[in-house]
Amino acid sequence: MNSVRHNAVATLLFAFGLGCSSGGSLGSGSDGKAGSPATAGVGSTVSTGASASGGNPDAGGSGGASSGGPSDSGGASGGTTVGGGSTAAAGQDGGGGRGGTSGTAGTGGAGTNNTAGAAGTAGADGGNPSGPPMGWASWNSFAAKIDYNVIKGQADAMVSSGLKAAGYQYVNVDEGWWQGTRDASGNITIVESDWPGGMQAIATYIHGLGLKAGIYTDAGNDGCGFYYPTGRPAAPKSGSEGHYEQDFLQFSKWGFDFVKVDWCGGSKEGLDAKTAYQAISNAIKKATDQTGRSMVFSVCNWGDQSPWSWAPPMSTMWRTSQDIIYYGDAPDMARVLTNFDSAQHPTAQSPGHFNDPDMLIVGMPGFSAAQNRSHMALWAISGAPLLAGNKLDSMSRDTKSVLTNSEVIAIDQDLLGKQGVKVADDAGRQVYNKVLSGTGRRAVLLLNRTASAATITVRFADLGLGTTASVRNVWAATDLGSKATSYAVSVPSNDSVLLVVTEGASP
Ligand code: GLA
Repeated sequence: MNSVRHNAVATLLFAFGLGCSSGGSLGSGSDGKAGSPATAGVGSTVSTGASASGGNPDAGGSGGASSGGPSDSGGASGGTTVGGGSTAAAGQDGGGGRGGTSGTAGTGGAGTNNTAGAAGTAGADGGNPSGPPMGWASWNSFAAKIDYNVIKGQADAMVSSGLKAAGYQYVNVDEGWWQGTRDASGNITIVESDWPGGMQAIATYIHGLGLKAGIYTDAGNDGCGFYYPTGRPAAPKSGSEGHYEQDFLQFSKWGFDFVKVDWCGGSKEGLDAKTAYQAISNAIKKATDQTGRSMVFSVCNWGDQSPWSWAPPMSTMWRTSQDIIYYGDAPDMARVLTNFDSAQHPTAQSPGHFNDPDMLIVGMPGFSAAQNRSHMALWAISGAPLLAGNKLDSMSRDTKSVLTNSEVIAIDQDLLGKQGVKVADDAGRQVYNKVLSGTGRRAVLLLNRTASAATITVRFADLGLGTTASVRNVWAATDLGSKATSYAVSVPSNDSVLLVVTEGASP
């Protein structure tokens, strides 16, 4: 059944022109998708910017990320609204957290936006309310085979495992909750035996744990559960087309704080993605105006029609590639790297607005501890949403320690919201640089995409830093002391080393 699902998905995705890139090569920029040459572009933009200006990347942002680009339209007032949204949400359910799509209303510059984000840290959850969303989603481990008890079990485990304490907030119900039925007035109807008390009951339960709840639909008529059934019969009409205002108001009234909108029907029908998702964003805003509940809006059209060029002002996050795993497949590091590469759109990203390389597969059966660490580090250096996809109630101690590492999470959640960018690439020995808040602080990922262990050198000049810097190995939690000009370390094949590099001598 699992391989049938995968084959069916692969066949259909090809039929839709989505492709299902193998990502087999560990070389750079190899995913072969339209738009993916951005990987190469990112690297060259950064080196050009750094050497041409010789300026301070703290002010200008690595690779010019904070100047120009679509993210500016979600700027100053958007940032302010995000902070406010978070406060309002805290009042409603005691959960605190992010304002999400309220950034849509914003216009202005990234500088003020950063300020607003910083002010938001005083919010109820003590985290970064305009940071990349953190939580768990049902899809990677359960596919459509979800019901109240499955979601309740994972929500409970988010608390008991310590993920909540580490900053994970959202419990997201993905595809499978709805079989596409409506009543005579067009209101969504659900199978009560799967969801006793309706969808509001699970949202209420999640809120009772001090967490936030997410739900899922499709922008088209028939959702993914119609085209690629996984554990339930094909569900026609499991999309929200023709019902945007009605459905998003319903989700908000049920109590959901996050909504992911997929693209299976939209793609099949040949809809214009920007137009459809703008209409959905408007419907969400209208629902929030009515209920007072903000919803994070997650655009899920797999990088089709270049969402990084239009989604930032209307959403919190937008998928940049196909699925990181298909139901029944084993986790695959090549696909993790392909999705990482496809997400490289640093100028689109700002606090409250994030490229989304997909939900995590950290801790899923088949991944080693080293693969889990590298996967988590790739998402953290990207400032990507951290939505775990493993079974939280049965994860190993190793997996838990990877998902909850506070230094790695802090890199991901940094207030500047920057995406790390490639600053050096010596035949697959790569260096990624993420500018962090504060002065002269960088997160650095040394990624070895070659077939053998190799020494990778990070030159401080490539990070926009002076000659002396102190270096910390993040996973080893070890200060390595002051270094002059550069730092070099051996990195195993297909593995990585995550550093924090701070300008100046070690104290
Ligand atoms: C698409 C999305 C996945 C998941 C499934 C559900 O493939 O990209 O993240 O939501 O649909 O069918």
